[in-house]
Amino acid sequence: MRKQRISMNILILGSGGREHTFAWKIAQSPLCKSLFVAPGNSGTSELATNINIKVTDFEAIKETVMNHKIDMVVVGPEDPLVNGVHDFFLNDEALKHVAVIGPQKAAAELEGSKEFAKEFMSRHHIPTAAYQSFNASNLEEGYAFLETLQPPYVLKADGLAAGKGVLILDDLEEAKAELKQMLVDAKFGNASSKVVIEEFLDGIELSCFVITDGKHYKILPTAKDYKRIGEGDTGLNTGGMGAVSPVPFATEDFLNKIEERIVKPTINGLQKDKLPYKGFVFIGLIKVGDDPKVIEYNVRMGDPETEVVLPRLKTDLVTVFKAIAEQRLDEVDLEIDKRAATTVMMVSGGYPEAYEKGKEITGLNQVEGSIPFHAGSTLKDGKIITSGGRVMAMTSYGNTYEEAIKKSYQNIQKVCFDKMYYRKDIGFDL
Ligand code: AMP
Ligand code: GLY
Repeated sequence: MRKQRISMNILILGSGGREHTFAWKIAQSPLCKSLFVAPGNSGTSELATNINIKVTDFEAIKETVMNHKIDMVVVGPEDPLVNGVHDFFLNDEALKHVAVIGPQKAAAELEGSKEFAKEFMSRHHIPTAAYQSFNASNLEEGYAFLETLQPPYVLKADGLAAGKGVLILDDLEEAKAELKQMLVDAKFGNASSKVVIEEFLDGIELSCFVITDGKHYKILPTAKDYKRIGEGDTGLNTGGMGAVSPVPFATEDFLNKIEERIVKPTINGLQKDKLPYKGFVFIGLIKVGDDPKVIEYNVRMGDPETEVVLPRLKTDLVTVFKAIAEQRLDEVDLEIDKRAATTVMMVSGGYPEAYEKGKEITGLNQVEGSIPFHAGSTLKDGKIITSGGRVMAMTSYGNTYEEAIKKSYQNIQKVCFDKMYYRKDIGFDL
């Protein structure tokens, strides 16, 4: 009976491996009464009720929230946040009591605009690559700036470009041609009407995840993802082909530098700039020598980083979210599993370019000792079939990351779908 009173109806927005992981964690919470995922996937349908609406259709989200008496909305991807879903709730009399986990639109610009993020870092003295930004009216100045830099050249579309907006080029003439294509020929549509050109940072990447209620913050475990499609980090960029947590080279000393030089000034900067933030801050970092520098901010959790970070969080996630909503995150202690977690993404053959969908996935019931988080898969006529490029993330724990990875690979052997591909070298560089 008591559960009835204090527990909540929760809606998760999104449909990937990240959202299945959120659903898996939230479903374990005594504070969760009913769980909904919109639109969800075959994995979330085992734990929650899927609702087939778009994450950017705010009116449909409102209807769902009203129909199911939702008390809390957890926003997975960046699109709804950058489009102002949190503000939409706050500005609606019928919705403003609902807790939304994710920053408001003004703060989501940290991911929505690279230039905004660079200016924020510059204002708050947060270490990052030197940069300048350009638009079509000062293209010639862009060329001149490129000439002052050493290769490789880093060009970034200012706006959201589905993870494709960053180009790294070795040749100056090619960099100039791409800059023109982005600014003048709208290579990434409106997203590249402005371009940030920045200094190339040479080092190894990792990500730091922070949760904040706008006043207080807590740091979640670090993770490293593997973005390229090919082994040895070669070939095209993807959403992420695997991840490891914690990051073995993130020593205590290095983590202290991240907290002092980056996390604290970021959270203080949000307050100083009056950017309302209740949610996850994903800080993409590069270790240059012994120093962390910021590559980018995302205003959400990473995918597949979520699939290794959340399984290591022992604390009840709904308790954490409630504390964020009520701005008392300082009262919550995060308990982290000491074991390592790894995940390996199984993708459709051809991804990240054209690939086929609708392939039946078999063998999931034989997986033992790992957690298969569903990403691009859906239920059809009682069968689980592929519906996206990144299909499934096999997460495992281990006393070491090597042990965890071994388990993920053993279980992947049992799963099968036509033209399945995965990288066999996750963790190779650690
Ligand atoms: P982003 O979309 O900003 O995460 O950039 C995509 C990828 O480009 C990053 O994960 C890095 O591998 C790479 N990258 C971005 N900015 C830089 C930089 N300034 N120096 C070196 N690599 C970079
Ligand atoms: N795995 C990188 C991202 O979620 O942006």
